[in-house]
Amino acid sequence: MRRYVIAGNWKMNFTPSQATAFINEIKPMVEGKDNCDIVFCAPYVTIAAAMEAAKGSNIKIGAENVHFEAKGAYTGEVSAEMLKEIGVEYVIIGHSERRQYFGETDETVNKRTKAALAAGMKVLLCLGEVKEQRLAGITKEIVSMQTKLDLAGISAEDMKNVIIAYEPVWAIGTGLTATPEQADETCGQIREALAEIYGAEVAEATIIQYGGSMNEKNAAELLAKTNVDGGLIGGASLVAEKFTAIVDAAQ
Ligand code: PGA
Repeated sequence: MRRYVIAGNWKMNFTPSQATAFINEIKPMVEGKDNCDIVFCAPYVTIAAAMEAAKGSNIKIGAENVHFEAKGAYTGEVSAEMLKEIGVEYVIIGHSERRQYFGETDETVNKRTKAALAAGMKVLLCLGEVKEQRLAGITKEIVSMQTKLDLAGISAEDMKNVIIAYEPVWAIGTGLTATPEQADETCGQIREALAEIYGAEVAEATIIQYGGSMNEKNAAELLAKTNVDGGLIGGASLVAEKFTAIVDAAQ
């Protein structure tokens, strides 16, 4: 039985005080809704305030990226040890916006994932096809290849701490959502790729989220699908009522 993980990706939104206000607002709304893990991934400077506000609740706070080196001359980067020391449990890696705008590749995604796992964090590993790839009918090949490259050298044991977020790039922030059937099919193809690498047991145990314009209206249908084990939510994670409705859909 896989457990739902409903995670918000705040992206470059919420200052520390705004995050505090948001967490204080949503905390009572999701209280006791324990059929899923609830995570918000926050900008680095906002993490501490969000964690403080979330203390004692069922909300966990994560980061949106992490560097692969332990320390050194990497201006603007943050290490896994730094995140770990302030109590960060989850980190998004390989988000399509990082891949699109900041030169992230499968190789750097793999290195960052290894660093986060070595520090004992849980990784929300994002992958997915772009529109042209879906139209060309090569989605399965793309997500299988990304799965293999992004997880190269990562052990079956470490897979307990890897959550995969299938995010079709054409659906992110566009209001276009994959149909429940498309989400289920592609998450299933990722699961097949996992089975090829790690065997059926690990593939069946790995949590695979869907992300890309998931909202309060479409969440129930998406989450009802066999291969969809949660959501990575951008826009709707900034509005307490909308995010809570998605958590409700996972109950
Ligand atoms: P969206 O973003 O829900 O706004 O489409 C999802 C994501 O980028 O993780």
